Amino acid sequence: MSCPHNSFREMEKDIHTDFKDDMSYGDYLKLDKILSAQTPLSAQHDEMLFIVIHQSSELWLKLAGHELSEAIENLKQRDFGHAFKVISRVKQIFNQLTHSWTILSTLTPVDYLKFRDALGHSSGFQSYGYRKLEFLLGNKNKAFLKVHENDAKVYHELKEALEAPSLYDVTLSLLVDQGLELDQKHLSRDVSLPYERNASVLNAWLKVYRDADRYFELYELAEKLVDIEDSFQQWRFKHMYTVQRIIGHKKGTGGSSGVAFLKKALDISFFPELFEVRTQL
Ligand code: HEM
Repeated sequence: MSCPHNSFREMEKDIHTDFKDDMSYGDYLKLDKILSAQTPLSAQHDEMLFIVIHQSSELWLKLAGHELSEAIENLKQRDFGHAFKVISRVKQIFNQLTHSWTILSTLTPVDYLKFRDALGHSSGFQSYGYRKLEFLLGNKNKAFLKVHENDAKVYHELKEALEAPSLYDVTLSLLVDQGLELDQKHLSRDVSLPYERNASVLNAWLKVYRDADRYFELYELAEKLVDIEDSFQQWRFKHMYTVQRIIGHKKGTGGSSGVAFLKKALDISFFPELFEVRTQL
């Protein structure tokens, strides 16, 4: 009787092997650049984990920003279907990012301290991919732009995101589209300022939730926004908790109070009325 398991796989004759004049996998993905960008500053074994986790997180943040910008455009065009598709993807990206904390939590406080000094004042607080995401989602804070002042390209990109309507601002215009009344003053507010909860928005969401069949697309959009906030908050929480596990209540390399500063972010809601509506229903 033949055994279904083999210990050897034949090379198939049609497999392409000559990439002298042909684009390979590595060429397409620029692997020479990506895989030569890990340059630890210490001789400590665990610094590689620290670098790779940050770099891979930055790639996921970049993709999440790319998708969220698309969702904003889709909603501006009243294209709910495509917006739902990309918003669902963003949620899964955040889940993926949150999961990566389980790998980082294998870094012990003692091993981190062996190379922490080499990081100088560099910190995730200066992550422009992350800051752009916060701005796209509506958590605007002009003061946070200051750390990017000496990089004109990044500064400009972030300032643009700060001053543009967020995902939630565009959503509010869709409420108006459907005949729901919102305060004019709230609609024409300066969108570069931090978002403040508004009673007319809460009332509009109450109508949507109480008559979900009539406002089904808005209802579904609202629940997808709640999904996004939920998964984003999981990332914020796991970051704060992993940081606490690794450095306790030491100050951050970026100069903040550390865990205390990160905890404050947990109180920030992108879509406050969507959480308040649950109490009111
Ligand atoms: C040993 C691991 C880590 C430690 C000890 C740590 C520590 C900190 C601390 C203390 C802050 C506050 C700012 C400061 O003073 O530096 C911060 C902010 C931040 N870190 Fe980390 N972090 C770690 C890993 C990561 C990773 C893997 C990412 C992924 C990109 C990341 C992204 C961020 C971001 C985006 C902020 C800004 C958060 C905000 O504005 O609320 N961190 N981190």
